[in-house]
Amino acid sequence: MAFIIEGKKLAEQIRTSLKAEVTGLVAKYGRAPGLAVVQVGEDPASSIYVNSKIKACREAGIESFGYILPDDTSETYLLNLISELNADPLVDGILVQLPLPAHIDEGKITYAIAPEKDADGFHPINVGLLSLGKKALVACTPLGILEMLKASGIELEGKNAVVLGRSNIVGKPVAQLLLKENCTVTITHSRTRDLPKVCSQADILVVAIGRANFVTPDFVNPDQAIIDVGINRNEEGKVVGDVDFKAVEPIVRAISPVPGGVGPMTIAMLLKNTVTSYCRRMDTP
Ligand code: GUN
Repeated sequence: MAFIIEGKKLAEQIRTSLKAEVTGLVAKYGRAPGLAVVQVGEDPASSIYVNSKIKACREAGIESFGYILPDDTSETYLLNLISELNADPLVDGILVQLPLPAHIDEGKITYAIAPEKDADGFHPINVGLLSLGKKALVACTPLGILEMLKASGIELEGKNAVVLGRSNIVGKPVAQLLLKENCTVTITHSRTRDLPKVCSQADILVVAIGRANFVTPDFVNPDQAIIDVGINRNEEGKVVGDVDFKAVEPIVRAISPVPGGVGPMTIAMLLKNTVTSYCRRMDTP
């Protein structure tokens, strides 16, 4: 029986402590941290994410500024809105929900957000700072993964960490964070030779490949801690991770569930990034 790394519980604790911190900050500086959340179009999944982000802000005492724009919003309009938000002293964090409609260049939009307000940590300046090991706003899911490992008492120093998946929002940044913690990091992907063998040698396995039940018992070992980043729907419409939890859980040392694992931590880290950005801005004359 594995130790279950319960992201949901940890996220609740973090949100409670952030709420207390925000109360103190409001008393000190006279205003709440503010997060602008921009959504273009009405993709149902995006709407669910955006609504839960706005609700989480409210519960933590963070002011949210929601911009739900029509599907035919032009790139120029969106760039102008971002310029205004960049200049708005009440906005500490800006988040543009992805994916954007095809006629808008996501790269251009990501570049336009002021790096010091980049609550998602997607701006190339923040990505570069992270890879240099410097102070950066870091993408929320990788940050959440690191918090889950640390809170579970999983030792990182000198350990063999294997990341399965090489996306810009999870695989690459989580590899950088693990490297910073002195792990020996291997990034693997769908074309990696002998993938199960490479993964089975990991002390820590972070799985973000986006395929339901992809990780089976041949990928794991009894001393392994697994973080499952996947959110997929199986044939029955049930939300499942990238790991075959039922088959793998009895074999490994620790594993995060889906749902109730990484997902709730991503939102908690978004709030944390907003507060971090607020504090840095308030402390900078
Ligand atoms: N779409 C899916 N995940 C994310 C995320 O973490 N941030 C943003 N902005 N859009 C997303």
